[in-house]
Amino acid sequence: MRTPRRSTAPLAFVVTAGPTREFIDPVRFLSNPSTGRMGFEVARAAASRGHRVALVAGPVSLKTPKGVARVDVVSARDMLAAVLSRLDDLGRGPVRVVFVATAAVADWRPAECAAVKLKKGAMRPVLKLVRNPDILKTVAERRAAEGAAPLLVGFAAETGDPVAEALRKCREKNLAMVVANDVTEPGAGFGTPTNRAALVRRDGSVRRLPLMSKAALARRIVRECEDLCS
Ligand code: CTP
Repeated sequence: MRTPRRSTAPLAFVVTAGPTREFIDPVRFLSNPSTGRMGFEVARAAASRGHRVALVAGPVSLKTPKGVARVDVVSARDMLAAVLSRLDDLGRGPVRVVFVATAAVADWRPAECAAVKLKKGAMRPVLKLVRNPDILKTVAERRAAEGAAPLLVGFAAETGDPVAEALRKCREKNLAMVVANDVTEPGAGFGTPTNRAALVRRDGSVRRLPLMSKAALARRIVRECEDLCS
């Protein structure tokens, strides 16, 4: 397949992928079914177009794409720390930075993680949860505070109206673009090799894409990022 020529200078991508795990005790955690596939495909597509890529991955069983610098994390707080450190490193260079948040970050974590395995007889079957940091929002706010300007791209995996939700997230988190999809549609959920998405920009423009492989969608997203940076 012919790849369209790149319209920009090389960019530096930081991509999050996969789920996070929020431990209750050493043998139990809260998580979700994300396989990390979409984020790994974005990282692969960006590297194959000559961009520098840092991939911050939650616990997944996927091989690192060629040319990608990967860091493995477990919890949302680990992921946030790794993302900020990669953005700081890359932001010092002359190259425009793009942050693509594909990870299905757990919004909540147990208020406490027990140091030893909780015994069912001794455990009250009630979990107290606290909010995790919103990685994308934190990056957006830091950008506003510090004047550094990575291009921000989010994902919205929804069960309701993905485009309306994407537009809300775009504006709330000050993103350039949100990739929206309805995870209840055939071929578009967690772990599938395909996705049907809409690309929603902050100006309200919406491009609805047909069902396609996650690899093809990733190439499309990378080209949109190049376009937004040009
Ligand atoms: N995200 C993130 N950190 C979080 C939660 C979400 O970086 N703690 C990012 C996701 O990677 C995604 C975007 O924010 O790119 C939207 O995530 P989503 O879970 O769809 O929505 P939320 O922002 O959590 O909002 P809501 O729960 O209202 O749907």
